[in-house]
Amino acid sequence: MSKVSVVSFSYRGVTDKLVQALAQGISEGGGEVSCKPASEASIDDLLASDVFVLASGQPFGVISGPMKTFLESCWISPEREQLQGKPFTYIVNGSSDPKDSGAYLEKLAGYFRWPLAAEGILTTASAIDGALDQARQLGVALAKLQK
Ligand SMILES: Cc1cc2nc3c(=O)[nH]c(=O)nc-3n(C[C@H](O)[C@H](O)[C@H](O)COP(=O)(O)O)c2cc1C
Repeated sequence: MSKVSVVSFSYRGVTDKLVQALAQGISEGGGEVSCKPASEASIDDLLASDVFVLASGQPFGVISGPMKTFLESCWISPEREQLQGKPFTYIVNGSSDPKDSGAYLEKLAGYFRWPLAAEGILTTASAIDGALDQARQLGVALAKLQK
């Protein structure tokens, strides 16, 4: 069973709800889950995982500032290369379609050489009820990911 790290940032609690559903799915699937806000996380949280998830809203049309700062800190870390090949996926929600933010995270993942562990979840805040079940199912799948 996998150890899953979730790094997220939520201004108004929408991303937090998605992360709670994801964490529930990880536990249901028998995985180990650790969640941290991007403002408190470090590259060590990713290094300690088998697979990790980044979750954010999209203020001003991109991932939130603390999430971007976290990713920049990972990039400048001397341990960055140890993360190459670590599978990841993402959850992004916005008041409008967050597909560009999802594509942005996939582009950054290409720079870091993080393969996509599973398709990311993109949702609008108004459609969150359906996405909560998707997040839970994603958690179950990640928990069962083969190492
Ligand atoms: C300062 C600010 C700017 C925002 N700008 C956008 C935007 O450009 N596009 C968008 O889709 N959502 C935008 N939003 C809405 C958030 O993406 C949306 O409310 C999301 O559900 C927030 O998730 P959170 O509560 O987990 O942070 C903005 C929110 C804030 C606070």
